[in-house]
Amino acid sequence: MGFPKNFMWGGGVSANQFEGGWNEGGKGISTSDTMTAGSHTSPRRITWKNISTGKVGSVELSFGNKKEFLPEGAIPTVLEHEYYPTHIASDFYHHYKDDIALLGEMGFKTFRLSINWARIFPNGDDCEPNEEGLKFYDSVFDECKKYGIEPLVTLSHYETPLNLTIKYGGWKNRECISIFEKYAKTVIERYLGKVKYYLTFNEINAMGMMPYMAGGLIDFSEQAKAQGVHNQFVASAKVVKLAHEISPEIKVGQMLAYTPIYTYTCDPLDQILALETMQKTLFYSDVQTGGAYPKYKLKEYERNGIKLDDCDEDYELIKKYSSDFLAFSCYCSSTITTHNELSENIAGNFSMGVKNPYMKTNEWGWATDPACLRVALNSLYNLYHKPLWIVENGIGWDDKLESDGSIHDSYRIDYLRQNIQSMNDAINIDGVELMGYSMWGCFDLISSGTGEMKKRYGFVYIDRDDKGKGSYNRYRKDSFYWYKKVISSDGVDLE
Ligand code: BG6
Repeated sequence: MGFPKNFMWGGGVSANQFEGGWNEGGKGISTSDTMTAGSHTSPRRITWKNISTGKVGSVELSFGNKKEFLPEGAIPTVLEHEYYPTHIASDFYHHYKDDIALLGEMGFKTFRLSINWARIFPNGDDCEPNEEGLKFYDSVFDECKKYGIEPLVTLSHYETPLNLTIKYGGWKNRECISIFEKYAKTVIERYLGKVKYYLTFNEINAMGMMPYMAGGLIDFSEQAKAQGVHNQFVASAKVVKLAHEISPEIKVGQMLAYTPIYTYTCDPLDQILALETMQKTLFYSDVQTGGAYPKYKLKEYERNGIKLDDCDEDYELIKKYSSDFLAFSCYCSSTITTHNELSENIAGNFSMGVKNPYMKTNEWGWATDPACLRVALNSLYNLYHKPLWIVENGIGWDDKLESDGSIHDSYRIDYLRQNIQSMNDAINIDGVELMGYSMWGCFDLISSGTGEMKKRYGFVYIDRDDKGKGSYNRYRKDSFYWYKKVISSDGVDLE
């Protein structure tokens, strides 16, 4: 029992974590360019300046509950003597030909990458796009074509042109809908015949936890986040509409961060906690893939006095132009309980909750859960009955480069083997419709949660450290050869 012949095996990256060339080729500044490096224990920070006083500083880019806010009158900015890990990132900007050749060597069918919005519209609201930026992605897609690789393009992966944050307050402003629509139209028309699959917003549910990264917001109020994501829903529906008008061949997906929830105890209160925690995620797919706001969210908005700046047409668009497929990221499950005293707390990016005694975790607290993909695939397929695509799954590890240029990452092979088996079960035992699997991040890149390089995910090792020092040479890890075998055997040979 293998995988379908047309299964889209591949891997993915995002522009802000992989591309670099942050101030080259006419690119404007993105929100992600203002984020410093952090670690598992010390959060990344957003640097700011106050235009009238000249004062500079930084605030914590925290997940979940915000502790610090930008001071009155301050705007995010790039400071001269600060180090920003994504400015060079893995330098795909100057290595893309060799990098895509490596993907070709592995037999990739698809490469998920994002377009850096500020490379196309440097200020977001420019009248004309930046031709040099458009040409760069033309060359990238041409290289993909050479190796028969289908690009899967995310239009916005955790970066917004900084000017949109400063001038409009980011996605909480409805102006962003038409600005994004113009950007999407420019890109989809330009790459017609080169790109067939798009995702609108990476992990759209990140708006709730990381509003600066997900929506360019510096106002972290519940009202601003609700409006921000409403505007993204409407923008996504408009992109589905315009993409289908440009070509019915083009498919536009939603991208959701999905983490199966397990309860630590059988206490009924733990089940209610699980239900409410899951609603926090499913709200986003209920709207973007299901086509309507769920009642539980409307009740919550009513209770909390949240009022959207909306109109009837928004809801018609959301209903009529829901996503063609549902793409999601899933790394592991989260175990939660109302009895926190029973187990050690763990937290990291989307993996929250308590330690599950049945699972091993990595240095960053992320667990390996062999069942998580089968659980996720069944849950999502049974809710929406739309094709699914796993666009992020993988494991970050502090890999060691040996003196002979080899990297022995058996832990990654073990993790992937179990996850691919879980996916196989969902297809062959449960009949889930799965379009493809895109391992994250197929090359080592900057961790979005911590800003580190040492949290390495790739099949390909990139020689640079947490401070940006290194040769930037590329090395094949053991998992590179293993994945090549997996692809060429259509997922049958997992040894
Ligand atoms: C997802 C993001 O949340 O998780 C990626 O879409 C990110 O951008 C990935 O890199 C892994 O998280 P981290 O924090 O290890 O980079």
